[in-house]
Amino acid sequence: MYRIVATEVPTPNSKLFMIDAPRIARRAKAGQFVVIRVSEAGERIPLTIADHDPENGTITIIVQAIGKTTRKLSELNAGDSVADVVGPLGLATEIEKYGTVLCIGGGFGMAAMFPVAQAFKEAGNKLIAVIGARNESLLLWEDRMREIADEMLITTDDGSKGRKGMVIDALKDVLAEGRKLDLVVAVGPVIMMRAVANITRPYGVKTMVSLNPIMIDGTGMCGGCRVTVGGEQRFVCVHGPDFDGHEVAWDELMARLTIYQPEEKVALEKYQCEACKSA
Ligand SMILES: Cc1cc2nc3c(=O)[nH]c(=O)nc-3n(C[C@H](O)[C@H](O)[C@H](O)COP(=O)(O)OP(=O)(O)OC[C@H]3O[C@@H](n4cnc5c(N)ncnc54)[C@H](O)[C@@H]3O)c2cc1C
Ligand code: FES
Repeated sequence: MYRIVATEVPTPNSKLFMIDAPRIARRAKAGQFVVIRVSEAGERIPLTIADHDPENGTITIIVQAIGKTTRKLSELNAGDSVADVVGPLGLATEIEKYGTVLCIGGGFGMAAMFPVAQAFKEAGNKLIAVIGARNESLLLWEDRMREIADEMLITTDDGSKGRKGMVIDALKDVLAEGRKLDLVVAVGPVIMMRAVANITRPYGVKTMVSLNPIMIDGTGMCGGCRVTVGGEQRFVCVHGPDFDGHEVAWDELMARLTIYQPEEKVALEKYQCEACKSA
């Protein structure tokens, strides 16, 4: 069992967990993730290591509750435990000095991008951070990102903070101004990462995306996370999660994300029904 040391609610639709996992905390690198099982009988879900503290032996994850397992996890608090945490998994992000790196995050990607953005900054790059949400209250880790970014661009769908629009609109602005970007890194919903790759392609800007397909074991055994990149089959859990966004077969990835939707719907309804009976 892995004990939850602390929790926070950074935004109304997310929850932060600091988990006691010393072995993972010692080895974690930017871009890696863990696979968590909330209870012995539960399914495994992949979550990015948003922060880690090797001295205190803790890792931090931020979860958006969208289905049964993420909701079950989000009900836990400090002092509770999860059945297991496996990791660090996936390849660490390849950090180099490129020049100007623009990191763009949406959804849980606003926090999941943080360690990667920090590593690019520490490697001597100029960091432009772009984060966005539906409204101001849903912006994740704006304060932490502001501390490391040379330039911070915020978007909200309703215009309550920063530029009105989506993160991709801010990226379009930067490119339309003729500014030179050496690398764009995108973390978040697949639809957003695909849009980012389509926007940067005509400009020839190298674009790295952190893919989040359905995963089961997270160790290359089940084939669940298969994607096509540059015409070749890759398993995101062992060959990724980072890939060249201009090479990803996005339509295939988006179709594969929906294959269990009927089962996910039933699982969520059953869970909500059980949760209200026990309330
Ligand atoms: C490498 C990686 C890192 C991730 N990091 C984070 C993170 O830091 N924070 C966060 O909130 N979420 C993260 N996710 C997504 C998270 O794993 C899914 O939201 C979660 O598995 C959904 O489980 P559920 O039972 O709550 O919902 P479900 O009912 O199972 O699914 C709801 C929707 O989520 C998608 N989904 C389902 N299972 C997965 C899966 N195993 N992986 C990806 N998408 C799935 C499906 O499209 C589905 O429509 C990450 C995914 C990957 C692959
Ligand atoms: S999750 Fe099973 S092969 Fe990647």
